[in-house]
Amino acid sequence: MSGSRTFTMIKPDAVLNGHMGAIIQDITNAGFKIIAMKYTRLSADRAGEFYAVHKERPFYADLVSYMSSGNIVAAVLEKENAVLAFRELIGATDPQKAAEGTIRKKYAASISANAIHGSDSDENAVIEAGFFFSQLEMFV
Ligand code: CDP
Ligand code: MG
Repeated sequence: MSGSRTFTMIKPDAVLNGHMGAIIQDITNAGFKIIAMKYTRLSADRAGEFYAVHKERPFYADLVSYMSSGNIVAAVLEKENAVLAFRELIGATDPQKAAEGTIRKKYAASISANAIHGSDSDENAVIEAGFFFSQLEMFV
């Protein structure tokens, strides 16, 4: 394996607003290799499970209904220092605070509908990738 892996989802707002292709282009231009990719949709139950760490947060219910409101693109990506490099590429959670040129700055609608997810640690990247993909699908 060259580098480490992270997990991403292009969120419903970005898909709905037609940014899916541009975002995939930004990701590959930044040097990430696509290991696995799926165009799919989360049920409310599955979205709730994915974001279970945020269960006690005030935005949890809205986040779950938003993340299950439309199609997403789930993907496993590989690059050196993938988790950190990808968090830099996507920018701050709040697109208004995201740096110029980042994916959230360019494509996100709001702090909740913020275009894209990126894992926050190597451990969570493995857990999140396993939420969508089998070991065989991630074997490259
Ligand atoms: O996605 P990221 O790791 O940058 O942020 P988070 O703190 O782990 O929050 C997960 C997701 O919850 C965010 O990406 C937003 O979609 C949503 N969120 C929200 O709706 N309102 C907030 N104040 C914070 C996060
Ligand atoms: Mg997070």
